[in-house]
Amino acid sequence: MVTSSAPGKVYLFGEHAVVYGEPAVPCAIERRARVTAEQRDDDKLRVNATDLTLDGFTVEYDGSVADTPDIDVAEPLLEEGMGYVNQAIEQARDAAGAQDVGFDVTVQSAIPLGAGLGSSAAVVNAAIDAATRELGVELDPREIADRAYRVEYEVQDGQASRADTFCSAMGGAVRVEGDDCRQIPDVPNLPFVVGYDGGSGDTGKLVAGVRDLREEYGFAADTVEAIGDIVREGEAALEADDLDELGELMNFNHGLLSALGVSSRSLDAMVWAAREGDALGAKLTGAGGGGCIVALDPTEGTETALRYTPGCEATFRAELDTDGVRVES
Ligand code: PMV
Repeated sequence: MVTSSAPGKVYLFGEHAVVYGEPAVPCAIERRARVTAEQRDDDKLRVNATDLTLDGFTVEYDGSVADTPDIDVAEPLLEEGMGYVNQAIEQARDAAGAQDVGFDVTVQSAIPLGAGLGSSAAVVNAAIDAATRELGVELDPREIADRAYRVEYEVQDGQASRADTFCSAMGGAVRVEGDDCRQIPDVPNLPFVVGYDGGSGDTGKLVAGVRDLREEYGFAADTVEAIGDIVREGEAALEADDLDELGELMNFNHGLLSALGVSSRSLDAMVWAAREGDALGAKLTGAGGGGCIVALDPTEGTETALRYTPGCEATFRAELDTDGVRVES
């Protein structure tokens, strides 16, 4: 039996624009998904998943991966989650050259689902690592990232950038521009605070909305390019350890995302509460539409302000995690 874990992430800068070839800087956060894989005597896959983010609930899926899983749960995101685990196990089997092994898999995730924190990438990375190790194979984190990207690409019908999977596999702050993925060295400690509205956005719809705007208006295309400029300025601020400048740029980035129509009332309310709580800066993270914001704040101010913000279901500190996917036991 092997347990591996991988971190979630926030976008410091660059979501949506990354879809059009601009760079983005996602950062791994100290919130992890843990996956335990134990080989079975048959070729079945049994998945037990526990969501530890809010109230916590459990679902069991018992079936052969060859069958379409028939999962009787009200939560469509959880159903999609089973698709991610199935595909991750397929990748592990492929990497180990062991097509017909079965697994009992336990997923425990402290990362809200579909809320812009990269929960699926973390689960997939941890599942690939745990299942391959269980089969006696140890993969390089870059190979895990690559295989995890293939899983996301498949499950999300081709709508996936390499940002989430690479960031979660490697840890720290990373820079992703098309297929060019790198770790950013010597990053200062980034005091992230997350606000969560309890909801999620529809990534496909939000990405399509930005695409339509970009095609209709030249100034929307310019807005996407301007986000790329923010990312390049942000890289310089990271190198200079300039947290104040990073905060300013996060505020600017949020404004442009809002102009592109991907914010929401609750995300805006949390962003403003964070700023009034003395955050250095705040923005939505991920696809938007609902889910999470990320603020930069070394003090307690943002957490306190968010606790009293209508529409904010949960707030937590989630500092930069320099560890990527790793074996736990
Ligand atoms: O919500 P998330 O964490 O899946 O992020 C989506 C980020 C987008 O740039 C909108 C899409 C992508 O695949 O990069």
